[in-house]
Amino acid sequence: MTDWLQTAVFYEIYPQSFKDSNGDGIGDINGIVEKLDYIKELGCNAIWMNPCYDSPFKDAGYDVRDYKKVAGRYGTLDDMKRLFREVHERGMHILLDLVPGHTSEEHPWFVQSGRDEVNEYSERYIWTDSWFKRAEGVAYIAGERERDGAYIINFFKCQPALNYGFLNPKEEWQKPIDHPACMATREAITDVMCFWLGMGCDGFRVDMADSLVKNDDELKSGTCQVWNDMLHKVHEKYPEAVFVSEWNNPEAAIVRAGFQMDFFLDWVGNGYNLLMRDYDNTGRDNSFFKKDSDRSIQDFLKEYLPKYEAVKDKGLYCLITGNHDMIRAAYNLNESELKLAYAFLLTMPGAPFIYYGDEIGMRYRKLPSKEGGYTRTGSRTPMQWDGTRNHGSSEENATLLYLPTDDSEDAPTVEEQQRREDSLYHTVRKLLGIRSKQEAFARHDNLEILMAEENRRSFAYRRDDLIMLCNPSDHIEEIAADVSQTDVIFMIGSVKQEDGRYVLGAQSFVICRN
Ligand code: NOJ
Repeated sequence: MTDWLQTAVFYEIYPQSFKDSNGDGIGDINGIVEKLDYIKELGCNAIWMNPCYDSPFKDAGYDVRDYKKVAGRYGTLDDMKRLFREVHERGMHILLDLVPGHTSEEHPWFVQSGRDEVNEYSERYIWTDSWFKRAEGVAYIAGERERDGAYIINFFKCQPALNYGFLNPKEEWQKPIDHPACMATREAITDVMCFWLGMGCDGFRVDMADSLVKNDDELKSGTCQVWNDMLHKVHEKYPEAVFVSEWNNPEAAIVRAGFQMDFFLDWVGNGYNLLMRDYDNTGRDNSFFKKDSDRSIQDFLKEYLPKYEAVKDKGLYCLITGNHDMIRAAYNLNESELKLAYAFLLTMPGAPFIYYGDEIGMRYRKLPSKEGGYTRTGSRTPMQWDGTRNHGSSEENATLLYLPTDDSEDAPTVEEQQRREDSLYHTVRKLLGIRSKQEAFARHDNLEILMAEENRRSFAYRRDDLIMLCNPSDHIEEIAADVSQTDVIFMIGSVKQEDGRYVLGAQSFVICRN
């Protein structure tokens, strides 16, 4: 694994909402450069930036019109090169967002592909061989282009699927994965990756990494084969390039497809979701980190551990505070609950990812959909830097902002949180400071669960010489421990060590060395 990943802590930036440097109401690349010191001071040493490419923005940039052109609203290629330089000068790294599974319907490849006459791009996308021939089991569109056929889409209507072939083609229009047209798609996307690596980025977060080969089997053998080939080619030229997949299946992504990292994502009812987002619209919330819930950490571990064990010596299975696709954690958790949740996330194996604004507890806002965001829009509002106009995210008149800022009186801001010693921001900063100094956190195969029971709220885990104890509940709990006296190096709440047991106060989290 690339060395710097062992100690990496990522900060996810949604470029349209981070910092507007030119007063047009939308965040931009130069704005990110202005705030690199902030990110570094927080304790993050790597960045994942959401798509910054030319796009009609029907899915906030995940509908790419030109992979090699920077969207005008964010800046220029020179700005990007400067961003890469500035990041590296600070000893940090940056991943761009690669969207390999589909393009915008406005991408010139697709425009060509939809023409009636056969051309270089005819098979770059997946077309049936007549307008009334329906593609089984996948979403398709017919009646939009002059070409006589229906095409498969990958996500929204505006996102036609690129053609990496079918695992077991059943119809003539379905190509095998090694068909020259599918190989040409691989080559084109490999070329895009090499283009950006050549400009100075360090790698990619890969959108819908599992979506490439159609009719794939359960093991995703076709998609894994394609990734192995593409990553191998990229690594021949850029051996240090780093890839994290949006897959939620580390065994497939890391062991079989060749990624170094995969995410544990927020899928309803899965282990990750149960930590901070287990609520419905009746007001019930049984998230593990909710003070008065009755959930045990076992519900998370049951899913997490087998996946972690399968990859722990091969790559990083990463936990996130949130991302641009999910409701912000602060929607239902208050500051003290968030502190415990983050203490957990930031002391677990894998590279943690902090979604911009989560470090100050930015809230979810119910807003009309913007650029295909729907319910996700409320998690994409401008960063709240200070108490000035637009919370310092932009100088412009608020009505022109990309999205409205949080106008509540007590909206958290960086300025207010930096001033307040006991803020969420300072908790994150302290934790990251500790994380960067302890060797135990730079290894990722060392998680040992010391205590986690079905009917208990508290639990304990070890990573080499560090023991973490967590009691998210509203009452005191005891954890039996057969350890000699330990040094407390981080504490939220209270802990007492008595013979053979720890007594943890309500809502406590402790890191001790033993
Ligand atoms: C996952 C991305 O995170 C999401 O924002 C996007 O809408 C879909 N993939 C489609 O690209």
